[in-house]
Amino acid sequence: MITNELKIQLFDKAKTMLNFSYAPYSHFHVGAALLTKNGKIYTGCNIENAAYGPSNCAERTAFFKAVSEGILKFDAIMVVGGPNGKIKDYCPPCGVCRQVMMEFCNPDEFKIFLAKSKDDIVEYTLKELLPLGFGNADLNK
Ligand code: THU
Repeated sequence: MITNELKIQLFDKAKTMLNFSYAPYSHFHVGAALLTKNGKIYTGCNIENAAYGPSNCAERTAFFKAVSEGILKFDAIMVVGGPNGKIKDYCPPCGVCRQVMMEFCNPDEFKIFLAKSKDDIVEYTLKELLPLGFGNADLNK
């Protein structure tokens, strides 16, 4: 059970990451806060590149920080973003990030929180945002 207090903590951390977003090309700043199953929070921001293709989303930055430290189990992620770092609307994860979530998370249980403010947070499971996702179990079928 993720309490409202914890959701707000995730929102605050994700929002703070907007300050570190490196987005000189799109000027669209994104911040993420990833909650691990042992209660730790890994943060991330988007990191763009002059060659465009190597750019990394905030969600994947958070996942890769955690996985690179041996953390592989996750409960939820909060994502916020907007033009020039101003949150105007929900910022749903891109398809590539949903697939990365699929690698490490149970799609029925992993929660994706999107927020316009601390008082306007919506919640989806990974399965809702990635129906019939391809995962490691499919390799053995
Ligand atoms: N972006 C993210 O970091 N996460 C999302 O959920 C959507 C898009 C980034 C990628 C790129 O740096 C910028 O936002 C505009 O697409």
